Amino acid sequence: MSIRFVLAVFVMLSQQGGAPRCAAFNPRMLFLVKPDPIVLQDHGGALLTGNLTVNLLFYGRFSPSQRAILADFVCSLSSPPPRHHPTTTAPSVASWWRTTSLYRGGGARLALGRVTTLDDEHMSLGHGGPLSMSNVTALARAAGHHRGAITAVLTAADVAVAPLFCVSRCGVHGRDLGGAHGKSRYTYVWVGNPAQQCPGQCAWPFHQPLYGPQTPPLVPPNGDVGVDGMVISLAALLAGTATNPYGDGYYQGDAGGLEAATACAGIFGSGAYPGYPGKLLTDRVTGASYNAVGVNGRKYLLPALWDPTTSHCKTLV
Ligand SMILES: *[C@@H]1O[C@H](CO)[C@@H](O)[C@H](O)[C@H]1NC(C)=O
Ligand SMILES: *[C@@H]1O[C@H](CO)[C@@H](O)[C@H](O)[C@H]1NC(C)=O
Repeated sequence: MSIRFVLAVFVMLSQQGGAPRCAAFNPRMLFLVKPDPIVLQDHGGALLTGNLTVNLLFYGRFSPSQRAILADFVCSLSSPPPRHHPTTTAPSVASWWRTTSLYRGGGARLALGRVTTLDDEHMSLGHGGPLSMSNVTALARAAGHHRGAITAVLTAADVAVAPLFCVSRCGVHGRDLGGAHGKSRYTYVWVGNPAQQCPGQCAWPFHQPLYGPQTPPLVPPNGDVGVDGMVISLAALLAGTATNPYGDGYYQGDAGGLEAATACAGIFGSGAYPGYPGKLLTDRVTGASYNAVGVNGRKYLLPALWDPTTSHCKTLV
């Protein structure tokens, strides 16, 4: 029986009515648990479906190239696979995302929506300090909440998000049910850039892990340890959002428990075991590790997703 590397997931219960319960992507607490296979229960609620947009809100200092890495990832999710390229037969980001359409009632096509940048000028207007989770949800709401959208708040490397970021989480997804009739319910995601605050927790395998078996860090496919790490968390949280958007979709355990990607945490390629992300593709020029290609020739490393048709974690390579 294989031993599986599973990341703990926290539930966040909110005090305010109608406010979010969030599932967290939390590579900090590393547990070794045995039983296999994991089964995510279908709780029968609505999944995300149809044509949706992902709005991105960049909060704080991101370089244009960092923004492009993240925006191109979102653009890649439902784009047709790149035409056969002589140097790669790598799986596409879109083929990775298609696993979410195997879930009962699922199958959202995601396009990039509104992109907002809140930079130094905004911060200097007295908005500098650490953000709270209610600040994050307020930002998500301001950045374009509406049905049919997922808003992702992406915080820069020097932005503290108290009390969660790097203490227990790399990001969360959640929802706001928008009052009694759910007229304006929307989903959101938050991911922080872990480069300065906790690369060992939120940028593995591109950084030495803080805990657990030590393996040499891999070269990140876009040359940015923090932002390539953010792609992993964003990917995991979007998959969780699509398959458990309102807390009554697919998950194991308590509400906000293991979801599509967190059920497979630590697994990126076939043959993964604790501390080893599995078999990956290698960029011949840079030596970077990746398992999927996207628009603009981008390469990404994406987490395995739980496949409801097999009850196993599906890897791309
Ligand atoms: C979603 O968009 C695609 C491509 O533009 C279109 O073919 C399809 O009919 C749309 N689906 C829905 C449910 O609107
Ligand atoms: C965060 O919320 C607090 C309390 O509501 C508020 O004073 C502060 O300005 C908010 N910060 C940002 C950046 O929105």
